[in-house]
Amino acid sequence: MLDISDGEFVVLRDLIRERFGIWYDDQKRFLLLSRLSTRLAKRGFETYDAYVRFLRFDSRREEEWSDLASALSNNETYFFRERAQLKALAAHILDEFLKRSSRVRLWSSACSSGEEPYSLAMTLLETGKITDAMLSIRATDISSRVLELADKGFYRALSFRATEPAMIQKWFHPQGDGFVIDDRIKRLVSFARLNLLEAQRVAAEGPFDAIFCRNVLIYFDKPTQKRVVESFAKALRPGGYLFLGHAESLFHLTDLYEPIVGPDAIVYRLKAAVPA
Ligand SMILES: C[S@@+](CC[C@H](N)C(=O)[O-])C[C@H]1O[C@@H](n2cnc3c(N)ncnc32)[C@H](O)[C@@H]1O
Repeated sequence: MLDISDGEFVVLRDLIRERFGIWYDDQKRFLLLSRLSTRLAKRGFETYDAYVRFLRFDSRREEEWSDLASALSNNETYFFRERAQLKALAAHILDEFLKRSSRVRLWSSACSSGEEPYSLAMTLLETGKITDAMLSIRATDISSRVLELADKGFYRALSFRATEPAMIQKWFHPQGDGFVIDDRIKRLVSFARLNLLEAQRVAAEGPFDAIFCRNVLIYFDKPTQKRVVESFAKALRPGGYLFLGHAESLFHLTDLYEPIVGPDAIVYRLKAAVPA
């Protein structure tokens, strides 16, 4: 691995914290360097100093920041992940939305390669309570690379590790060594690139009935987690829901939401509307 001076390490980790809210203390120096070294190798840099200059000044810097975000978090995802939450959505929460309006808008806010938003679309259509015209799903991620995959809608076995075969048969078509998502599901989802730390853009995406922000807060430091979940409050309808990953929680973070504890899943409901 390339040598890094203490000064270069501090500059890079501060830039990363400012941009993504991901904090690497001295103990995580090796972890950060191993992830950065992949990016340096991909771009052909031989010094950290040159890489920092690229991140700061090069005209292609946004593209690199996006790839760096992916390298630092990881894009691990699969269809019907944390199914208990999806069941709660289909069984009860959807009824609350439908009482309020005949149109339902959901947001998968760190959607990776698309398995999460497509799972939401399949789950809701499967209930029979909602038609295609009543549902729209926004799906965003900071990484353009995963968004390209999401838009292709082509998946291999690993993405289906928690998918019932009947669902694959119904909603996918075999293609080469994998499956492509049916157009009926694809049409319900619109993808875009968005950094969750950009609070104004987050607020402007709303209003949503529910926001899914699963398995990404764990990479942020506490102040950033707080900032992100509080900005979601401005993108949710009154009484809207926030879904987090099972290792994530709002405990000691914010009191804008109340936890709704079900038999297998915890979800959060916005207490009152927050002005945008
Ligand atoms: C582990 S995946 C989670 C995917 C999906 N939500 C799930 O639970 O299966 C984390 C995703 O968060 C994205 N991400 C990381 N930082 C982000 C940020 N600041 N804004 C938006 N997305 C971000 C990564 O690019 C990655 O695709």
